[in-house]
Amino acid sequence: MKQFHPLTIERIEPETSDSVRIALAVPAGFEGDYEFLPGQHLPLEITVDGKKLRRTYSICSGVDERPLQIGIRVQPGGAFSEYAAGQLSVGDTLDAMPPAGHFHVDLDKSHSKDYVGFAAGSGITPILSMIKSVLETEPNSRFVLFYGNRKQATTMFIEDLYALKNRYPERLQLHFVFSQEEQEFPVASGRLDADKVRELYRHFCKGLEPAAAFVCGPDTMIGTVTEALVELGMDAAHVHSERFGVPRDAAKARPAAARKAADHATVTIIMDGHKKSFEMRRDDDNIVDAAAGSGIDLPYSCKGGVCATCRCHVREGEVTMATNYGLEPWEVKAGYVLACQSRAVSDSILLDYDKT
Ligand code: FES
Repeated sequence: MKQFHPLTIERIEPETSDSVRIALAVPAGFEGDYEFLPGQHLPLEITVDGKKLRRTYSICSGVDERPLQIGIRVQPGGAFSEYAAGQLSVGDTLDAMPPAGHFHVDLDKSHSKDYVGFAAGSGITPILSMIKSVLETEPNSRFVLFYGNRKQATTMFIEDLYALKNRYPERLQLHFVFSQEEQEFPVASGRLDADKVRELYRHFCKGLEPAAAFVCGPDTMIGTVTEALVELGMDAAHVHSERFGVPRDAAKARPAAARKAADHATVTIIMDGHKKSFEMRRDDDNIVDAAAGSGIDLPYSCKGGVCATCRCHVREGEVTMATNYGLEPWEVKAGYVLACQSRAVSDSILLDYDKT
């Protein structure tokens, strides 16, 4: 199983008044484990008042940039983000699993592609990593970014973006949209809703044939932007998205039918080439918690069906998945599931964590 390792905080500084940027050094000997694809995230764990908290935060560094950097927006009442912004300092460590996630761009220096990004708020972090990596690695590719925020002062990584624009003026287009600050040009005011996406796209993407669009932000924004891009002619298979935050009630949503049965199923896990089995009740909330109840530690982070840290392949048997914001349609078709969202349906289930 992917292990947590302590990464040392090399720098921690305010990014905006409500967010911090943290630079993390990987322990010697583990550098290879923390190589990443631009767009991937780090599952992190801290202990606050004796309670373990896990969250995933996207890496915002370019693919060859070290130390690794993440950006954390402080959510009022958010135990992890408040602790990170208020209590952590240089020299402290953060436990991190190796980078994970399928929201990424495949780099190739021979590519000559146009990419489009739509980010809202802290949804910029994975897309910033993509922009840096594409511009640095693919000399003939271009990136167009549409970035929505309430106001300029709370716009994360704005300086990094301007610096990239200065460095790659011909290959990077930046378009900011502010919902609480009126702009000189109406197209730059408002939210990234369907009308705005259509307006921006028609205005600034004329003549482009984007190879891929990357959309990152809250749940509603993802749906709206994706639908609008498909309407504008983009192939849905080329629109990739990652949700920020666990949609409300996602962790609790369960199919009613699964609640009625209370008999047991045998779940066998293949991980790192080893097999382990445990019994779970069919009305147990999910496989991750049921395994923990039997002393088996399975990977997880958000437990809300978003981050896909708990992704595994169903080799035998059947499970039912309550919520899925983390797997692409092809993965579901191929038999991958999110264990944090899955309950047992058949009497016997074989889950493969080694199949990638
Ligand atoms: S732990 Fe995040 S999707 Fe399952």
